[in-house]
Amino acid sequence: MLSLLLPAMLAIQAMAVMEVQVPEQPVVALHGSNAMLNCSFSHTGPFNLSGMSIFWLLTDTKRSVHAYRDGRDQLVDQADSFANRTSLFPTQLALGNASLLLSKVVVADEGSYTCFVRVHEHGSAALLLQVAAPYSKPVVTLEPESNLRPGDEVALTCMAYDGYPEASVMWQDGNGRNLTDNITTSLVANEEGLFTMTSVLTAVLEPNSTYSCRLINPLLGEEGYAFVTVIGQNIAFPPVALWVTVGLAVCLLVLLIALAAVCRRKIKESCEEARREAEEAKELEEEESKTAMMLLKS
Ligand SMILES: *[C@@H]1O[C@H](CO)[C@@H](O)[C@H](O)[C@H]1NC(C)=O
Ligand SMILES: *[C@@H]1O[C@H](CO)[C@@H](O)[C@H](O)[C@H]1NC(C)=O
Ligand SMILES: *[C@@H]1O[C@H](CO)[C@@H](O)[C@H](O)[C@H]1NC(C)=O
Ligand SMILES: *[C@@H]1O[C@H](CO)[C@@H](O)[C@H](O)[C@H]1NC(C)=O
Ligand SMILES: *[C@@H]1O[C@H](CO)[C@@H](O)[C@H](O)[C@H]1NC(C)=O
Ligand SMILES: *[C@@H]1O[C@H](CO)[C@@H](O)[C@H](O)[C@H]1NC(C)=O
Ligand SMILES: *[C@@H]1O[C@H](CO)[C@@H](O)[C@H](O)[C@H]1NC(C)=O
Repeated sequence: MLSLLLPAMLAIQAMAVMEVQVPEQPVVALHGSNAMLNCSFSHTGPFNLSGMSIFWLLTDTKRSVHAYRDGRDQLVDQADSFANRTSLFPTQLALGNASLLLSKVVVADEGSYTCFVRVHEHGSAALLLQVAAPYSKPVVTLEPESNLRPGDEVALTCMAYDGYPEASVMWQDGNGRNLTDNITTSLVANEEGLFTMTSVLTAVLEPNSTYSCRLINPLLGEEGYAFVTVIGQNIAFPPVALWVTVGLAVCLLVLLIALAAVCRRKIKESCEEARREAEEAKELEEEESKTAMMLLKS
């Protein structure tokens, strides 16, 4: 019966004299939290609640979000996705407050909601609900990770999880230069509608360079910042230089060994010479002492 009544009510909306007020700015609610959909109406004098109707509808599809009539909630026609998640404030109704509390907000709740009120006259107004979810802290990875050489093309990946809505990504180098030219950004939604965002920057590697990734959620502002610095250590010797170095090292080693061998021979020779000299000296000494003894004897 409600579904027959609603179009008729909305059709005569143009004749409405009751002023219904909702926020002009979109209402931003965090995923998983509660959203207050404010709706207030002007009323003249006290009125009987049982003669009052409040319909919260999805503006586009006219599906029922919450209905109140004959002094109580009427939830038979409520869209399944809103089951057990909506409530009015009964004590506030008589004060002209038809606000709806929507709990455990999900991405799918995003959209336009119409608040329709009828007491004697009727009126309606629509508000926009936007859902936001903060992204995880971004993580920047470098591919490939090792054996990097200056001049190599590398892929830097900035990844963040479970956010909403789409964030913008800004890449910068260490000097704050905008590197947003060569990026490809992709979004993958999970079953809850939250995004995993991956931004890949292709860059030509320079030594000691820093690449930073900034994530900006349009509803929540800047969310995260991460960077990677490619220092000299990550950069291996280029192969040619490596082989030259190894070759030089081997040459030097051979040279040293040769030198050592020569030295040893020289030392040995000089040692032998010294010994020979010493022996000769001893012999001479002996001979001299012999001579001396001989001299004594004679
Ligand atoms: C709802 O209305 C009240 C009172 O006017 C205000 O304090 C509150 O900030 C509003 N909430 C939202 C989500 O607009
Ligand atoms: C309606 O009542 C609720 C509950 O007291 C309050 O939080 C909300 O701000 C009120 N909204 C307006 C527009 O007065
Ligand atoms: C409100 O309306 C109901 C039904 O229309 C009626 O029974 C009741 O007496 C009324 N209450 C007041 C205070 O007017
Ligand atoms: C809503 O609550 C009722 C009673 O607590 C429960 O039987 C029903 O399964 C709930 N529905 C959903 C969609 O959670
Ligand atoms: C960076 O460059 C991109 C693409 O050229 C541009 O869209 C963006 O606005 C720039 N950002 C800043 C902060 O300059
Ligand atoms: C973008 O990539 C091209 C080729 O890969 C390169 O020539 C150009 O310098 C890059 N632009 C920036 C800003 O890094
Ligand atoms: C890279 O940084 C290291 C240490 O900070 C420094 O010694 C080196 O000269 C730098 N190289 C270049 C090419 O800037």
